[in-house]
Amino acid sequence: MTSLLNFVYTNISDIARSASLFNTLSTFHTSKSSSKLSHNFTNNNEIHTSAARTSALLSTSIGFQLNPINITSYRLASTNSTWNESSLPDKIKSLDEYKALYDLSINDPERFWKMAAEHLDWYRFPTKIKNTEFDYRTDRGVDIKWYEDGILNVCYNCLDRHIDHDSSASKQVAVVFEPDTPTETRHHVTYGELLRDVKKFANVLKKHGVKKGDRVTVYMPMVVDACVALLACARIGAIHSVVFGGFSASNVAERISDCDSTVVITSDFGLRGGKCSPLKSKIDQALKMKQCSNVRTVLVFERNYGNNADVKDACSDQRGTLEWKEGRDFWAHKEMETVNENCPPEKMNAEDPLFILYTSGSTGKPKGIVHTTGGYLTYTSLTFKYIFDYNPGDVYMCTADIGWITGHSYIIYGPLSNRATTVVFEGVPTYPDVSRFWNVVDKHQVNIFYTAPTAIRSLMAHDDKYVTKTSRQSLRILGSVGEPINSEAWKWYHSVVGDGRCPIIDTWWQTETGGVMITPIANAWELEPSSATLPFFGIKTQLFDKSTKKPLTPPNTGELCIQDSWPGQARSLYRNHERFVDVYFKQYPGYYFTGDGCEIKKNGYHCITGRVDDVLVISGHNIGTAEVEAALNEHAGVSESAVVGYPDKKKNQGMYCFVVLKDDTKESEELRKDLIKSVRNTIGAHVNPDVIHFTPDLPKTRSGKIMRRILRKIVEPDTSNLGDISTLTDPSIVKELIKKSPRTKHS
Ligand code: WTA
Repeated sequence: MTSLLNFVYTNISDIARSASLFNTLSTFHTSKSSSKLSHNFTNNNEIHTSAARTSALLSTSIGFQLNPINITSYRLASTNSTWNESSLPDKIKSLDEYKALYDLSINDPERFWKMAAEHLDWYRFPTKIKNTEFDYRTDRGVDIKWYEDGILNVCYNCLDRHIDHDSSASKQVAVVFEPDTPTETRHHVTYGELLRDVKKFANVLKKHGVKKGDRVTVYMPMVVDACVALLACARIGAIHSVVFGGFSASNVAERISDCDSTVVITSDFGLRGGKCSPLKSKIDQALKMKQCSNVRTVLVFERNYGNNADVKDACSDQRGTLEWKEGRDFWAHKEMETVNENCPPEKMNAEDPLFILYTSGSTGKPKGIVHTTGGYLTYTSLTFKYIFDYNPGDVYMCTADIGWITGHSYIIYGPLSNRATTVVFEGVPTYPDVSRFWNVVDKHQVNIFYTAPTAIRSLMAHDDKYVTKTSRQSLRILGSVGEPINSEAWKWYHSVVGDGRCPIIDTWWQTETGGVMITPIANAWELEPSSATLPFFGIKTQLFDKSTKKPLTPPNTGELCIQDSWPGQARSLYRNHERFVDVYFKQYPGYYFTGDGCEIKKNGYHCITGRVDDVLVISGHNIGTAEVEAALNEHAGVSESAVVGYPDKKKNQGMYCFVVLKDDTKESEELRKDLIKSVRNTIGAHVNPDVIHFTPDLPKTRSGKIMRRILRKIVEPDTSNLGDISTLTDPSIVKELIKKSPRTKHS
């Protein structure tokens, strides 16, 4: 507790921030555990000191004394520091250690990120660490470079180097594969085996003419071969562009043509939740479209490779029907038999692109987010190591799909660069039953488990016995990512899944940020349900008022921006730097705009309130739909909800709530009234849901995101053009919703 009481939080504006850092430094230097660190820092901060003094005079900021009232203490670790100051510590054990290092990372980012880069192996260690500009109004414009004269290879850092440093690593399991159907064969792939396959597949890519800088589209299910494909691209310096396996043929075509890929890597089929997904056929359809005429090679992994030929699964009937274009289509495994195992890693500049990943914008075509080599790997590697408190031998499992940034950063690059054992899970949380996650945890003795709130909420709707009948004794840390986790879900995850003993690491970040930005560090400080707590090293948050565009001083709620660059951030949008600047750097000059709302509390803890474009304006009140959803979700009978606005002449907007009830709850007029009452009670009497629409499900992408765009169209109502709904887990739900909606009925 004493360490928490020492925490002074100030945050007002550019100028005041330097002053606040000055305050924080002095506070921390008096604390026992950081006294060892202070000596060293003082020297380094001398240059900052005079600026800080000047700005302290200008500043009107007030320091907030942290007072952890009403916080349930979930864990507070010891504050003994073992850091030797010349390199980053192995673990962050306490808030004091965090604070000391956080201050260093903000005051002297060059020094902090140089030490972070030392965790990787470089052919040439960078002499230039940070060279970034966020202000579009300057001559240079927005320009982000980290480690720009450094040379390294991402694949070497994820595989070879572990074996080069310690030959026993070749026998260590790198990837545990858990197939969709629990009875199917699972594999354990060692670092040695993975490296061999990656080298071979890299040679296959070379054989098909892929060179450094070429773009390769990857359209794969969640199987080990997907990791092989990505690492092989990284090995030879090709830029991978993974397209999520749930996207329709036309969406894939759009993404292939946008980055001009000439080679596509796919699989004959994918299996999820017992359903067969004909990936290769979708690629065939995509390649028939004019914009994909440059694709010359399709490398096809066989999902059932090495298994008994007459295996019976959901894809059996379709196996004989694959279309094959001679000269273009090749079986990947067969091609791998034709090449040797010798493939030296390509020497890449730190700022060479590693991958492109498309993410949907609020309007228009998808944005091709570009991540580069050195900064991205340094950042994902360090965040993984600290946040999840990974210990050698731990089994780590992230349930994301490889098609999303979480799959890139925290199934492959973060874990493997730390020599971790990572689980690749092909299935879904509810198949064959809702105990699936916890059975997998027991089967592979998973220690660290990272999933999304949407999965937690869907499992929470069922009887707890589906969880409690499993052991879960191996679990040590639970993570959450992707959307705000409401406190009911947080508590259920903590108490039922984690038996009250595992910290919940609620990580806030984005495709654009490359790695986790606001997060607890496991076992280092107290947690609060629904709060991602504190910014990671090097991340300076700043809130702004949406209408006045002025900076806000915490405690407050506003639009979340980041003040300075961090190594993991996206450098641009593929071939569209102008749009990159427009979307992320124009709203608040000099800042990266996240598009999310955030509350920073008195104790400095951050609570993400949702996308700022998900705000309703009703009778002059701004209401975050995420807030209303959280209130609805707190109701004992509610499993999940989604709130959207519709035009209303009187109030500007009306509030429409889609509500999914728990298994044992029946819809009724009484319940409807009760829900309205509880929203009013939780948020305020000005918040009045106009429509409560009970539904068995919500339209979701396979990554679990609720498609609010479609819900908005339904309630507007504007159902003539719903856009592409093929990426939904269950597109039929849309028809159901339209049929039952009072807005469409009367339109
Ligand atoms: C939301 C996923 C609240 C947020 C890594 C962000 C979250 C968007 C959290 C990015 C969290 C992600 N709490 N909201 N812990 N994590 N979000 O690009 O709105 O798929 O802007 O990246 O998800 O989604 P993306």
